[in-house]
Amino acid sequence: MAIRYQADSNTFILETKDCSYLMKVSRYGNLLHLYYGKRIPDSDVDYLLQLQDRGFSPNPNEAGNDRTFSLDFLQQEFSTDGKGDYRSPSIEVINGDGSAIFSGKVVDYQIDKGKYRIEGMPSLWAADSDRADTLKIRLEDRESRASVTLFYGVFEEKNIITRSVRFENGGNQLLNLNRLMSATVDYRDSEYDLIYFPGRHMMEREFERTPIRSGLHSIGSSRGTSSHQYNPFAIVCERDAGEDHGGCWGYSLVYSGNFLFEAEKDQFGQLRINMGINPKHFSFEMKPGETFWAPEAVLAYSDQGFSGLTHLYHDIYRENLCRSPYGKRPRPVLINSWEAAYFDFDEEKILEIARASVDMGVDLFVLDDGWFGKRDDDNAGLGDWTVNRKKLKDGIEGLSEKIHEMGLQFGIWIEPEMVSEDSELYRAHPEWCLRAPGRPMTRGRNQLVLDLSREDVCGYLIDVLDALLSNARIEYLKWDMNRSISDVWSGLLPRERQGEAMHRYVLGLYRILEEITEKHPQVLFCGCSGGGGRYDPAMLYYQPEIWCSDNTDAVNRLKIQYGTSFAYPVNTMEAHVSVCPNHQTGRSVSLKTRGVVAMDGVLGYELDSRKLSEEEKAFCRRQVEFYKKHYRLIAEGDYYRLSNPYENPRYTAWQHVSKDRRESLVSLVLTDKEGNAGQLYVKLKGLDPDAWYEVEGKEGRYSGALFMNAGIPVPASLGEYESIQFVLRTVQEKK
Ligand code: GLA
Repeated sequence: MAIRYQADSNTFILETKDCSYLMKVSRYGNLLHLYYGKRIPDSDVDYLLQLQDRGFSPNPNEAGNDRTFSLDFLQQEFSTDGKGDYRSPSIEVINGDGSAIFSGKVVDYQIDKGKYRIEGMPSLWAADSDRADTLKIRLEDRESRASVTLFYGVFEEKNIITRSVRFENGGNQLLNLNRLMSATVDYRDSEYDLIYFPGRHMMEREFERTPIRSGLHSIGSSRGTSSHQYNPFAIVCERDAGEDHGGCWGYSLVYSGNFLFEAEKDQFGQLRINMGINPKHFSFEMKPGETFWAPEAVLAYSDQGFSGLTHLYHDIYRENLCRSPYGKRPRPVLINSWEAAYFDFDEEKILEIARASVDMGVDLFVLDDGWFGKRDDDNAGLGDWTVNRKKLKDGIEGLSEKIHEMGLQFGIWIEPEMVSEDSELYRAHPEWCLRAPGRPMTRGRNQLVLDLSREDVCGYLIDVLDALLSNARIEYLKWDMNRSISDVWSGLLPRERQGEAMHRYVLGLYRILEEITEKHPQVLFCGCSGGGGRYDPAMLYYQPEIWCSDNTDAVNRLKIQYGTSFAYPVNTMEAHVSVCPNHQTGRSVSLKTRGVVAMDGVLGYELDSRKLSEEEKAFCRRQVEFYKKHYRLIAEGDYYRLSNPYENPRYTAWQHVSKDRRESLVSLVLTDKEGNAGQLYVKLKGLDPDAWYEVEGKEGRYSGALFMNAGIPVPASLGEYESIQFVLRTVQEKK
């Protein structure tokens, strides 16, 4: 068992292959955090809790005259609130008498084989081959009888610990739950850096590293989605940690709505991490007996730097998150109509584009926005999911059949959560929108948001999606969501429950996705929110890939995909080759470089194939063949970032290495070129130092040790924005 309770020291011990997580029940019943990091053999480490009498640090009543016991500085596993701990708390609850106090003490615990699941929300699952166990510890507030059950899922071989919390009102009075973090982790010191991934529409998940300083550093979203602006993933690392060395802890939240991540350095130089649903505008009314689940946080520790941490997240998210059979299947190479036609098309034009794409070697054609209702631009039609026969005379069924006759599969775009004011749906059901009564509404892309906290709206959308997927041959569905949510108010919730609307919206979204993906397992679902505005593990649970960004510029994509790669596997990032000059930036780069960058993800195309020359089509065909040949290596191998585009202006390079280290693909894009520049060498990673490798298409054989320590020269002839790929393979004999 990876989980033990040691009664003589009152210690809970969680162990994975390489890390240990220890906590202890204090003599007064508080659950204290002792250690999370590299695996240690010790099980009794409570000497780490150094008690002292400190001024202005109150002592709980049960400590009597012991002035050295104070929750103001002790490391807690799930903090109390209103009892002398002034750091940002794990919970905020308003009791029946109006007091804002929660003082959870351990009342019982249970250790189970297997991994717990969360009702109504995505969470990691254990396969038969996984050694996974669950620990539940219940902490009760004696006075209110409210309790929290802390859930820990331990994936022993995969070095992952998951956490979640279930709140229960076990008393007989009404309570208000105003905050419930999924994970709190207290560190004894704060000599660390924080890495997180801020961004914006068309420039998501940029890389930012900053020393942890006194006070509260918080990131999060209040836009109703996990957002373009901040991703629910962050890293705490040792000050000298880098790609290949140093301790780092990852925090990832399996949630698609408003989230919060906090790093607080307190008065004593200690650090508290909190991660969970954003408490802003959040309040749940809890009747006696009612329960509330916090979403799952996925924690990982690596002493092998960021690469080590990335490999842990990539492996667990590839293998234990996505439910779709496509999670592990090779993905079709698609061509999408959006940048080729936008709203301006009819059946003939779509068929021409599809026909011209056949020679490029793609497998699937995706019809993007504009096929339904009165949708000639983005001001109308959302909600009316019936085909526009003026544009598509034989409907979706007819179009899909014709595309299948060309030997291509067919996919379609939809934006189910939205409605345009100029739509039949809005005219019939204006009350189905999130919209505060008596207030002018806030539009985003001239559209409104349907209230997914309502069961009737969810039921309606399930029927719409089911009909669409049942009535035509559709192998791929792109699910979009194109605005930030505002004006949150739900027509079916009473005043005192309005603070529940946003989380209930997310639960409604999961309910729809659950039903539709269960009913149509043969469909490959792709997530999208103006590109990567909802790029989170919860969406990946239902949708194995996500449109990474609306920005298809290959050079900008280097940064976007670099940031995304820290937590999310390459086979979740949809990346398309588009036309040049690029529609978002006006930049032109070669077709080769566009392909090299797009195959650092799930390769696809998004351009008017009618305008490609025969040579260009043949080039695309070779690109697709190359990608397919190396698909397993790219999608399932270990990923190494060879350079940081925020620090290295000259080039960006990355590497895929097969798990057995026998094969590797190295890719490099030159991002800045100076006259008569010094020779560049790129040092490789992850190879077997003792093995001999040959480079495809080149003479000679070289050791893994040489390539990793001395590097490979980058041809001096490479110009700005040009790229190169090397395929390495071990040769039979060993050194
Ligand atoms: C969003 C998506 C794009 C495209 C448009 C259609 O912006 O990210 O890929 O589908 O919507 O309106």
